[in-house]
Amino acid sequence: MFKLSDEGNKFVQKELNRYESRRSAILPCLYRAQKENGGYVTPEVVSELSRLMDLPEVQINEVLSFYTMYNKKPVGKFHVQVCCNISCAMNGGRELYSHLLKEFKAEDDKMTADGNFTFTRVECLGSCGTAPMMQVNEDYHENLTGDQAVRLLKNMVKGGN
Ligand code: FES
Repeated sequence: MFKLSDEGNKFVQKELNRYESRRSAILPCLYRAQKENGGYVTPEVVSELSRLMDLPEVQINEVLSFYTMYNKKPVGKFHVQVCCNISCAMNGGRELYSHLLKEFKAEDDKMTADGNFTFTRVECLGSCGTAPMMQVNEDYHENLTGDQAVRLLKNMVKGGN
């Protein structure tokens, strides 16, 4: 059974007080709960948030299913989201994604056997001027070449970044 920490509970109450409508607090509260649940959202997480926020589960599930920033299954220690939308695609985003999958012997949207990575192809992350780009956990990495991206990710595994 999922329970938010005391800090998580305070966070939810603060967010609920911040907005006129309780529904507006779903985005930040869901993100907080995802973090506390090891990086993904389960039905138990939704149910707990529904109770804490006094909102129907269906409203939380609507948000959960719409945004790619929420994971519905466990992800690797480093969740690598590579943008393959128009600006990134025109600047090598798709090739970058294929390169990373090959280099790390990974499959699309599946955690690698060592638990280090999940690579996901995503739509525009709002950084089109610095294409191609990827998001690793919460950080953006931009103007990438395949080799730079591989080096960066290998350094993260070694704890160098
Ligand atoms: S198209 Fe890649 S960030 Fe917008």
